[in-house]
Amino acid sequence: MEGQLKIPRHVAIIMDGNGRWAKSKGMPRNYGHVQGAKMVEVVCQAAYDMGIEYLTVYAFSTENWNRPKDEVDALMKLLGTYMSNCLKTAKKNNMCVKVIGDKTGLSEDMQRRIAQLEEATKDYDGLHFQVALNYGGRDEIRRAVAGLARRVEEGTLKADDITEEMIGNALDTEGIPDPDLMIRTCNELRISNFLLWQLAYTEFYFTEVPWPEFDGEELRKAVEAYTKRDRRFGLVKEP
Ligand code: IPE
Ligand code: IPE
Ligand code: MG
Repeated sequence: MEGQLKIPRHVAIIMDGNGRWAKSKGMPRNYGHVQGAKMVEVVCQAAYDMGIEYLTVYAFSTENWNRPKDEVDALMKLLGTYMSNCLKTAKKNNMCVKVIGDKTGLSEDMQRRIAQLEEATKDYDGLHFQVALNYGGRDEIRRAVAGLARRVEEGTLKADDITEEMIGNALDTEGIPDPDLMIRTCNELRISNFLLWQLAYTEFYFTEVPWPEFDGEELRKAVEAYTKRDRRFGLVKEP
């Protein structure tokens, strides 16, 4: 079966449904976040074993700051712990980890943990793992445009010379191929400000399974669905 699968090079995941999953078990939302964080490692391992080269997960959006302070604090604490633990698992799995999103909006402690993790794993060439943290697609495009505008102001770039490639390279995902497959868990059919530029030709897979139950087997089902897709990129279908 494995041989018949078409393996996407880059998979992006909106990990959703932690709160609902916990609620369904009569537990507080944070219990769902703790369980959800554990699944990240499971899915990284499964992705690597399947031959997926790039995995990007949406961990905290620019909009998630609007949640109750208790929940935001708990999530940041969990993410901080995750960054530290990830240092060990990345080494074990040869994983190169990057954080995308506006890091300047994170606490100094979190920024330090991220810098340490990115520096320690930068030469690993197994799974390329991107964590979207304080990430919003619109905010990412805004920051990229501001960077290009500064060059125009300095006189080193002409507005009419701006290409799509230059915009792509000004994004946080510079050097990372666009996702081939985007998965969203827990039955929500929207992209919630995730990778707006990069998802232009990505195949989407939505599942009812909540993130704390999304394991290697579920990833495999998503890749099976992807295998059956007929990708076009605007071309006509081959006869
Ligand atoms: C996803 O689960 C995790 C984050 C957005 C941080 P949710 O917390 O959104 O869980 P639901 O969607 O409310 O069930
Ligand atoms: C998207 O999930 C953000 C993350 C998974 C980090 P949300 O649960 O925050 O999105 P909405 O509010 O349902 O669109
Ligand atoms: Mg949600």
